[in-house]
Amino acid sequence: MYDILTLNKIAACGTDRFGADYTISDSVSDPDAIMVRSAKMHDMEFGKKLLAIGRAGAGVNNIPVDKCAAEGIVVFNTPGANANAVKELVITGLLLSSRRIPDAMEWAQSLKGNGDEVGPMVEKGKSRFVGPEIAGKTLGIIGLGAIGVLVANAAVALGMKVVGYDPFLSVNTALRLNPAVKSVADVKDVYAVSDYITIHVPYNKDTKGTINAETIALMKDGVRILNLARGELVDSPAIIAALEEGKVAAYVCDFPSDEILGVKNVIALPHLGASTPEAEDNCAVMAADELKDYIENGNITNSVNYPNATMNVTDIKVCVLHKNVPDVISKITSTFGVAHINIENMVNASKKEYAYTCLEVASITDEMVSVLEGLDNVIRVRIIR
Ligand code: MLT
Repeated sequence: MYDILTLNKIAACGTDRFGADYTISDSVSDPDAIMVRSAKMHDMEFGKKLLAIGRAGAGVNNIPVDKCAAEGIVVFNTPGANANAVKELVITGLLLSSRRIPDAMEWAQSLKGNGDEVGPMVEKGKSRFVGPEIAGKTLGIIGLGAIGVLVANAAVALGMKVVGYDPFLSVNTALRLNPAVKSVADVKDVYAVSDYITIHVPYNKDTKGTINAETIALMKDGVRILNLARGELVDSPAIIAALEEGKVAAYVCDFPSDEILGVKNVIALPHLGASTPEAEDNCAVMAADELKDYIENGNITNSVNYPNATMNVTDIKVCVLHKNVPDVISKITSTFGVAHINIENMVNASKKEYAYTCLEVASITDEMVSVLEGLDNVIRVRIIR
């Protein structure tokens, strides 16, 4: 039996994937795995039993990913599972910002009570809400991952010119990009030509404040900026100053802070990017499948702190999470050599500071497990029979 702790409401189609061997509850005290959406986990202490955390979503800034890696806890996310939902809200944001829809709607509501005069008042007053069409304009996209590529292709379909920047562009994503999207090697080439800029990168210490006074200065006057990724990617004082000067015509933000609320031409949304039933279902199913495959088979797919590694075995699987440093693998394998146990199959992969080695063997003793656990730089050993 395994215990799964849920820290947020997770769609039933996801939790249902676990089956009868699992207890899933929001009050488990010593879980084997945790499922989470946006609950903040930085102050949590983790039990020795905890194998993995499944984030039903893309951003993992609510999880202490490095601490988890050091404790042998594999953190998974669900890249792409909510990408369509975010894409649709980005397209909505483009139109909201361009056609001045929020202000226009508020004004239309304010006409209530004017009886037969409403029609003439609408016709007379609407001219102040004129805003440009997006077709023919240039959309700059910073980050061409699962979301960025969908936004790029949708914008091309709406008649926009699209310029994208992503220093980590994967071959898989490049193949999915509409050939009309121009990929540039220098982000300044996005800033220089774009009428609209949307950012789709994870938030971390390198991306914090990507949009700041310096980068805004490189943009066209009247640019409209969209941020449905994370609030911290845009420096608030800089965007407020740029909105007040008219350098930036509108800022669509799905992560409003007290500072930016109420600022003219800020269009604030309450983190709605992935708030669709479809995205919630997709994320829950993907996170549950990733956790289950790791718990039961030791396979890692879509981890943010350990490498992907899949090995299906018929015998015993020895799973070792360790530091990515010299001599660990030879010490692991020689533990079996000394005991005259043949290694049938082996997979090793690394991700930055951490690595994962899986071995298939016909037998292993408790003493050997203790030897493996005691090796320098070995973080966790798990035997799956
Ligand atoms: C994500 O990171 O996947 C989106 O911001 C939605 C969410 O936080 O769940």
